[in-house]
Amino acid sequence: MMNKSESRPMMSRRDFLKLLAVGGVTATGGYLLSEYAPWLDYNQQADQTWKPFEMTSTSSTQMRELVHYATLAANGHNTQPWKFALTDNAIEIRPDYSRELSVVDPDHRELWISLGCALENLLIAARASGFSPEVSYPDTADFIGVNLTADTRQDSPLFDAIPTRQNTRSEYDGQPVKSVEMDQLQTLPLEPGVTLRFATTQPDLETTVEYVNQGNLSQYADKAFIDELIYWLRFNKKEALASLDGLYSVCSGNPEVPHFVGKAFVAGTKPQQQADADAKKLRSSAGAVVIASELDNKSAWVRTGQVYERMALQMTSLNIKSAFLNQPIETTQIRPQFQSVMGLGSSLPQLLVRFGYADSMPRSLRRPANAVLL
Ligand SMILES: Cc1cc2nc3c(=O)[nH]c(=O)nc-3n(C[C@H](O)[C@H](O)[C@H](O)COP(=O)(O)O)c2cc1C
Repeated sequence: MMNKSESRPMMSRRDFLKLLAVGGVTATGGYLLSEYAPWLDYNQQADQTWKPFEMTSTSSTQMRELVHYATLAANGHNTQPWKFALTDNAIEIRPDYSRELSVVDPDHRELWISLGCALENLLIAARASGFSPEVSYPDTADFIGVNLTADTRQDSPLFDAIPTRQNTRSEYDGQPVKSVEMDQLQTLPLEPGVTLRFATTQPDLETTVEYVNQGNLSQYADKAFIDELIYWLRFNKKEALASLDGLYSVCSGNPEVPHFVGKAFVAGTKPQQQADADAKKLRSSAGAVVIASELDNKSAWVRTGQVYERMALQMTSLNIKSAFLNQPIETTQIRPQFQSVMGLGSSLPQLLVRFGYADSMPRSLRRPANAVLL
């Protein structure tokens, strides 16, 4: 008689290896499934984020809609560094310093520019929904105040452009912007102390390429810069949907990957690789524009943000795409030289934006109004 162990069929070496392979594939598949989470619907969340303004009759829901539209503004690393306080007839936009970018933006310059972008959306939406807004700039206070009084509705193409504006980081089609459209951009109403310097000629564009290169070489050699960037990168939709903030890789044209793969890839990016990629993008653009301001304080930063957002919305309404390349301004050693070569005189460069024609990219997400209301 055979004993029990003898009755069990022995596993051959080949079967054992097969089992290991199947186990490995299952584990990897399970891991990838959980990383990519195909059951999570990113587009549904994006539709919810970018849904058009709802005109309502109750003032509290209308105020929430204004806050919702303010949050659709451009903002550094999609940190959404804002909080909103509501009263019956006023909205305060306050900085959320817990969302600061201490490496790339140690003086909170870009944080206040981001608040200025949100302010511009809010003002445009307020006018379109029947309010006359009045702004108090943060000269002494640490917030932006917006008083609202009832008025007639003022619709505008900029209002319609709010839910479709995006920072389009792809290569563009290399075509110049039509001259009638360029005229509209060059006559955009500005804010006091804020100027635009367009670079659309070949030599001017090459100058911006050179300075973006220098900025990239400096930033991508800085471990603290890379660490901060990685902290705000969302490498797959599961990460993007969990936080509703940050830079989702797919929005920049990169694939979905598990966190450790994305992290290793970004940490291993050679400064020259990044510089070459951005040079290509800049050369594919119709032009670039520097937004500069006479002063370098909170109110000037807010007004800079307003002009940027207004211009980006104007571009959106003309089907022109835009994206930032702020490297020569964020790198403090390069900023004064950039100011000089761009012929800005005593005005300080605050933002560098390229523009041109391209298809839209996937949309970024935002935290809902509830999450940013005080
Ligand atoms: C002050 C400021 C600085 C920014 N800097 C950069 C930048 O250097 N590179 C970049 O690709 N995007 C930059 N952005 C764009 C943001 O990353 C973008 O607005 C955010 O991810 C939300 O995406 P969206 O604009 O497409 O809605 C900046 C935005 C602001 C307001």
